[in-house]
Amino acid sequence: MAIERTLSIIKPDGLEKGVIGKIISRFEESGLKPVAIRLQQLSTRDAEGFYAVHKARPFFKDLVGFMASGPVVLMVLEGENAIAKNRELMGATDPAKAAPGTIRKDFATSIDQNTVHGSDSLDNAKTEIAYFFRDTEVQPYTYRK
Ligand code: RTP
Ligand code: MG
Repeated sequence: MAIERTLSIIKPDGLEKGVIGKIISRFEESGLKPVAIRLQQLSTRDAEGFYAVHKARPFFKDLVGFMASGPVVLMVLEGENAIAKNRELMGATDPAKAAPGTIRKDFATSIDQNTVHGSDSLDNAKTEIAYFFRDTEVQPYTYRK
């Protein structure tokens, strides 16, 4: 398995609920190391650009509005198989369908406010990381014992 990086976002409802620490603990306990972290209030334009792939979808306006409704935590997670592992920890998009023990099952209230984002492919991870972080803001430490 390869060491990968993925973009994780704790969405505004996660901050509202006060579960940043609990969510990051799950990543760390599963071997995903945060190698960049920033708290940020996204503008509408930031959110539109980030979710541009969903522009034509009926939920786009609500999604953008929600993502810009309060601060988020932006993170780069690094580790073995990071992209799939993060998606597994997150659970299904709709928390009602998410498996027990996943972040969305345990913390999310609805498909619109589903607490976390995670990149879904290697290409998207690269694009999404570059959307929010400069190379110098990412601190690799997986090589450490
Ligand atoms: P994310 O990008 O936020 O990690 O979520 P995801 O991959 O699990 O789901 P995606 O298909 O990329 O959709 C992005 C976000 O749009 C909202 N959504 N609503 N009402 C709906 O049918 C619907 N489908 C998607 C969700 O908030 C989802 O996280
Ligand atoms: Mg997605």
